[in-house]
Amino acid sequence: MIVLGFESSCDETGVALVDAAGHAIPRLLSHALHSQIAMHQAYGGVVPELASRDHIRRALPLTEYVIKQSNLTLADVDVVAYTRGPGLAGALLVGAGVACALAAALGKPAMGVHHLEGHLLSPFLSQDPPEFPFVALLVSGGHTQLMRVDAVGSYALLGESIDDAAGEAFDKSAKLLGLPYPGGPHLAKLAEQGDAKAFNLPRPLMHSGDLNFSFSGLKTAVLTQAKKLGDQLENRKADLAASTQAAIVEVLLKKAMSAMTLTGLKRLVVAGGVGANADLRNQLNAACAKRGIRVHYPELHLCTDNGAMIALAAGMRLQAGLEALDGAYSFDVKPR
Ligand code: KG4
Ligand code: ZN
Repeated sequence: MIVLGFESSCDETGVALVDAAGHAIPRLLSHALHSQIAMHQAYGGVVPELASRDHIRRALPLTEYVIKQSNLTLADVDVVAYTRGPGLAGALLVGAGVACALAAALGKPAMGVHHLEGHLLSPFLSQDPPEFPFVALLVSGGHTQLMRVDAVGSYALLGESIDDAAGEAFDKSAKLLGLPYPGGPHLAKLAEQGDAKAFNLPRPLMHSGDLNFSFSGLKTAVLTQAKKLGDQLENRKADLAASTQAAIVEVLLKKAMSAMTLTGLKRLVVAGGVGANADLRNQLNAACAKRGIRVHYPELHLCTDNGAMIALAAGMRLQAGLEALDGAYSFDVKPR
């Protein structure tokens, strides 16, 4: 069963093909990604209208590319999957529209996929795929969640951010430091040259006793610190970046380990853009090694948004018998 998947929830157009027949885990046949980062950088953030228009421009050339790379033809595609949400409404509508139109033209079913399920399952495409059950730490630009995952489609929310997501904390703090969009990777790079103990920033909800997060106060603390530094900020930027990263990572680490204790599980899956953060990975690896916990990540290039995770999630849901494909081509998107 060949699944063609589209991702267009934000600022990356991703298209991928997986083979979900005869393999325990769908096999990635080909994938292509176009990042809009350069286009949005001039505005300091994603401009939704520009994002939608660019998805329109990229969707079909990327589709032609992945088909060519796989040595298949469009006629070999059995199901067309797309990100239904969450994300930017206009951007989602492009992916959904393209996917459903293509499916209708091919006479094959179309299927919407939850973006976060894509992230959550993306480590199954790695060299070291997890086994169920596991705890998932989902850390993206829009979400910070801890989940107990017992099977494909069986997700129990253990805790989540009550305000900003971890990625947002990275991005907003980076913006305050004058770093380009998207701030996360830039802040992480700058932090390499800084002293993580230089500034004592808050670790909100660290000892709340539950598995919820709160990151909105952190950017205020970073702003206050930046103002206090005044002219000195330029010299201390790396220290402030390192201290910010340390605050975010420490909370994520603490809550992830609490989730492991609470569930008694011995497997942790980390997914979403912030899962690419090297400091987070190092600290999680060390803590998990100490506790005899196996930790799984997506391949680095599949941490941030991509089409492969959407085709994979669709393939895994189909394999698990969770989808009743009705052949209807009406579609809706769920921005939230
Ligand atoms: O999962 P993702 O690509 O998109 C969403 O679904 O939101 O995550 C994007 C987020 C952004 O906030 C970005 O700054 C952050 O992931 N990110 C990082 C790193 N790479 C991406 N944050 C910290 N360190 C990184 N290396
Ligand atoms: Zn994402």
